[in-house]
Amino acid sequence: MNDGLLKRPRRLRSTPAMRRMVRETRLSADSLIWPLFVKEGQGIKTEIPSMPGQFHYSVDRLGEAVQTALDAGVGRVLLFGLPQDKDEQGTGAWVDDGIVQRAIRELRAHFPDVMIVTDVCLCEYTSHGHCGVLHGETVDNDETLPLLVRTAVSHARAGADVVAPSDMMDGRVAAIRQGLDQQGFSTTPIMSYAAKYASAFYGPFREAADSAPACGDRRGYQMDMHNHKEALQEALLDTQEGADILMVKPALAYLDIIKEVAAHTLLPVAAYSVSGEYAMIKAAAAAKLIDEYQVMCESAVSIFRAEADILITYHALELAQAMQKGDIG
Ligand code: PBG
Repeated sequence: MNDGLLKRPRRLRSTPAMRRMVRETRLSADSLIWPLFVKEGQGIKTEIPSMPGQFHYSVDRLGEAVQTALDAGVGRVLLFGLPQDKDEQGTGAWVDDGIVQRAIRELRAHFPDVMIVTDVCLCEYTSHGHCGVLHGETVDNDETLPLLVRTAVSHARAGADVVAPSDMMDGRVAAIRQGLDQQGFSTTPIMSYAAKYASAFYGPFREAADSAPACGDRRGYQMDMHNHKEALQEALLDTQEGADILMVKPALAYLDIIKEVAAHTLLPVAAYSVSGEYAMIKAAAAAKLIDEYQVMCESAVSIFRAEADILITYHALELAQAMQKGDIG
């Protein structure tokens, strides 16, 4: 037996320089997007209890967060809005002086080069907390579409670079594409939450965004965790409707879905490492049960190894720093 052959993998692990050279997964801070929560009011920067280390910002202080991101090497953010008032239709989502629209204009004015992605959904703006117009206990898919279009167009008009519909209504990508094109925003890409599972991992976010449904749940429009072919079907439909980037969400419990979608599409694939994934790492680290830094790095690398091109994560800044140090990347 040739002993040298048996030792080949081990030889390539002998030094850090050697290991870095033969890494199969390459990471870049350009692939990271940091979600931010913007809230009505003045002078606000308050920590979100369910998500330690993440904050609610008022529009006037949002720039501080963006500057910190830029200092860490992260130039892309995803905006979520918390309006003052909610109503049945989620009016706050699309009005010209809505919270997200104002936040976009403020950032655009001070940070022309930052990429602004916006979440397009009604759940933070509806009094019932559902992602669309509610009739009795069911969300009316088709009545919701024009409202999502108005929301996406208002974001683009305010200066958003990318719109990301997260509602999971059928036909929304086509409707939004058409609406954007008609209003002169044919160059604004759509990052569609193509495979969005009905997940308990969104728990901390719903507290952060005050968007838990008042009745029922989102299983009527979000995906069943037992299914994987359905994810491909959703991805295919969104592609046909004109999506530019496909997203899978959550990430860690759905690495197989990321890999499968990536294998079946020619579009870039984004993964959203959601609030519950972040909160679990934070809580376990606070209890001294795990090493936060190492677990954060390992989780992120696993998502890219599953062939995500883009990662939306609350750990974006720390990950960019880890890449800079060469610990990952
Ligand atoms: C809005 C939306 C949600 C998330 C992103 N966009 C919540 C939901 O669908 O209930 C979750 C993000 C996270 O948990 O970090 N529809």
